[in-house]
Amino acid sequence: MYLTTEEEKIYNGEYGKTLAQCMQILAALGEIYDADRLIQIKSVQVAGVSYKTIGDAGLEWISGLHGRVVVPSILNPAGMDLKNWRKMGIDRAFAEKQLEIVSAYKRLDVRCECTCTPYHIYEEFAGFKEHLAWSESSAVSYANSVIGARTNREGGPSALAAALIGKTANYGLHLDENRVPTLTVKVEGRLHDADFGAVGNIAGPTVKDQVPLFKFKTIPSPEELKQLGAALAASGSVALYHVSNVTPEAKTYPDPVESISIDKKSIDSVYARRCTPDLIALGCPHLGTKELFELANLLKGRTVKKELWIFTSRRLGERHPAQIAAITNSRAKVFYDTCMVVSPASERFECIMVNSGKALHYVPSMCGVPAVLGTTEECIKTALH
Ligand code: F3S
Repeated sequence: MYLTTEEEKIYNGEYGKTLAQCMQILAALGEIYDADRLIQIKSVQVAGVSYKTIGDAGLEWISGLHGRVVVPSILNPAGMDLKNWRKMGIDRAFAEKQLEIVSAYKRLDVRCECTCTPYHIYEEFAGFKEHLAWSESSAVSYANSVIGARTNREGGPSALAAALIGKTANYGLHLDENRVPTLTVKVEGRLHDADFGAVGNIAGPTVKDQVPLFKFKTIPSPEELKQLGAALAASGSVALYHVSNVTPEAKTYPDPVESISIDKKSIDSVYARRCTPDLIALGCPHLGTKELFELANLLKGRTVKKELWIFTSRRLGERHPAQIAAITNSRAKVFYDTCMVVSPASERFECIMVNSGKALHYVPSMCGVPAVLGTTEECIKTALH
């Protein structure tokens, strides 16, 4: 991979050890994936934040870095609400380690607003055809597919390296030729809400890392696309999909000849109940404004009888105090900076009900708790009875 004279100087340590390490990470990735050069990026989203997932080794690595990020950079969810961790039942030892991780990122000037939906709070982070270095899989999928921005799924260290250098290697989904759909997925039935996450869970294992083109009978909303992409990335490793007549690049390419079909019966079967929920957890990926308003409407003036946890970004919560009040007045709990998957707090429950295909996939493997899927309305109904 070609490096400019300046990039070579960084690589060789003329600007210090941290930048040299970062440049070496980017160059190594560029070599592996046959990139021609480094390209400027608009923003970075850094995964590898929860102490539950990165442990002491991750903390040590981040703490050893020096310098400041040179492009807007934001963190993925941490293992707890950074202020309200006691209310989640997090123990002090975990909390101290988690706060240390966040402080280490803060020293590098990363925005410590821990969210997997940065596009809900900072529209300027990702625009059509802009290059990014994002790492959380649902955020990557949304940026590529719904916004039409360009990012590979970065690992935590490569995202952070990109943030400190301001560039990433030009390969994979940064290139037009890798954004062409290769498989058509025809979906039967009229779908809404969590159905799109269910479709993602069904399609993911077949699609794997291909670029699918979906043909739906109903037009999905951005929130439903968010659910589709999150589930596709979790159950397969899809980082980009197109939806006929909906997503911005769908028209650019011819329909792939190879196709698969998903019928309504298989979508309905994803909702099969395997256990009785004692926690209902919504907000995977983190809720956006429209979803927050919807939940506030469903909960206003009512009282939940089961634990209901709602996850969104702190910034969005601060923007919509009336909706947060409507939710918390119902005795539901709103948590920021974290989620039901990356926090150890969910592990003490027997069965978790979610409206997200991604959470349905990861709650059992990451938290050791069985999960069931319901639509948003079904989830609220379960919490109220
Ligand atoms: Fe986000 Fe956690 Fe789901 S990071 S996509 S809410 S698993």
